[in-house]
Amino acid sequence: MPNTIRAAITAVGHYVPDTVMTNHDLEKLVETNDEWIRTRTGISERRILKQGATSDLAVPAVQMLLKNRGITAEELDVIIFATVTPDMFFPATACVLQEKIGAKKAWGFDISAACSGFVYALSLGSQLVQTGAYKKVLVVGADKMSSILDYTDRNTCILFGDAGAAVLLEPSADPSLGIIDHKLYSDGSGGDYLYMKGGGSLNPPSADTIANKMHYIYQDGKSVFKVAVVGMADVSAEIMARNGLTGADVDWLVPHQANLRIIDATADRMGLDKSKVMINIGRYGNTTAATIPLCLSEWWHEGKIKKGQNLVLASFGAGFTWGAVYVKWAY
Ligand code: UT7
Repeated sequence: MPNTIRAAITAVGHYVPDTVMTNHDLEKLVETNDEWIRTRTGISERRILKQGATSDLAVPAVQMLLKNRGITAEELDVIIFATVTPDMFFPATACVLQEKIGAKKAWGFDISAACSGFVYALSLGSQLVQTGAYKKVLVVGADKMSSILDYTDRNTCILFGDAGAAVLLEPSADPSLGIIDHKLYSDGSGGDYLYMKGGGSLNPPSADTIANKMHYIYQDGKSVFKVAVVGMADVSAEIMARNGLTGADVDWLVPHQANLRIIDATADRMGLDKSKVMINIGRYGNTTAATIPLCLSEWWHEGKIKKGQNLVLASFGAGFTWGAVYVKWAY
């Protein structure tokens, strides 16, 4: 008997902090300017969580999701939390979140895949539902990037912001709708270009790691750009080809929001008009694991995603990690 269970996204939620940091605010901190940031990245402002941790970005996002779905946290079976800024190394932020929302019957764990964390987590979560083992899997992407940014480094501090977002996966009522396909990659040879070297077992925290700014994000932007622009476009084209999709079939590209130029290149490669691309990088910058679910939740709340539509989610990030997920929207 073939397995006919398919996982579907059945609710979405998001949270962005109130505090806005504009390009002009950054002009006061580093040698940069609004025009450079906008033309090179597409970013005008980002949000900063002043008090609290990454789990505090996730809590309101999940509460929004639960309210939308009309269920309580106690009904959740699994929590998968994608982040590179966990509250602590351990316990997992999934467990911290579990306690804060009261998901007493769930188990959970974190995924570290940087900007691809959400597509990794979504792919994995869909498998947990498809096997029939679990019925309500919460997939969270949240990052407090401001906690690992050096606000004297113009190469990085202009790029990132804080946000949390989540989706709920359940068995699809209609097996033709839901998470149809995914394709994930990683390439560890990319590790030298985007990292945070301090704090782990390689470089435990010390006066030296602090003096050498090893607890901050480092990025060789130009090198990452070159592979990201190819990687995200290639994997998007690949998932379209193997599902027989042309640009005309795709209703929405939901790209990781790292740089507007990377997003544009991906849309061009897919043969998509810009009107079919979810873009909010201008307001939030790169929120790492949160970018894709944040787009999904914003667009859904604005009534712009319709049942049956074809969505391609695509990401590229540190590791390197990259991937795409093909979703037929189910509600
Ligand atoms: O999300 C995870 C994956 N990450 C990405 O996908 C990010 C990929 N990389 C990028 O998005 C881009 O490489 C950046 C936005 C980070 C940088 O843009 P770029 O067009 O690659 O600029 P660049 O690093 O080549 O710098 C160009 C010039 C340099 O000056 P010179 O050497 O031409 O005189 C930089 O020093 O711009 C200068 N520059 C800046 N100027 C004003 C670099 N950063 C800044 C800045 N403000 N913030």
